[in-house]
Amino acid sequence: MKIAMGCDHGGIHLKEHIKKYLIGKGIEIVDHGTYTEDSCDYPDYAAKVCKDITSGASGADRGILICGTGIGISIAANKCKGIRCALVHDVFSAKATRAHNDSNILAMGERVIGVGLAREIVTTWLNTEFEGGRHAARIQKIADIEE
Ligand code: RB5
Repeated sequence: MKIAMGCDHGGIHLKEHIKKYLIGKGIEIVDHGTYTEDSCDYPDYAAKVCKDITSGASGADRGILICGTGIGISIAANKCKGIRCALVHDVFSAKATRAHNDSNILAMGERVIGVGLAREIVTTWLNTEFEGGRHAARIQKIADIEE
């Protein structure tokens, strides 16, 4: 499995933590930055990760985006065609958004949750399969809105 990651300065510490955690689990990471604590604009990093996933450029299956709240970076990601980005701060939603929404990007806020919960969320989100069926028809309706 290969995961594309991105963050702004508000998410840099959690991004680095989750990156190391996933590498330790044998997951390949494509890190689109940011790489420092210098102030930057979260839409730039949302765009990099979304473009990677929708183009298939790096072969990343899914993405993880982090900013201070997770809100701005998830709003930006959901402007990209083909992206279903879920802002998640609890384990129940991490499971549900994979099973029901087939979310292809997970967003979190570094200023909202601790690293322990973030790790649980990421693990659950990565290990939950889409259920398809009636949920596939609803996702098609989301795609229709994009057109
Ligand atoms: C940056 O200060 C902060 O606004 C950003 O990380 C994010 O929380 C925006 O939604």
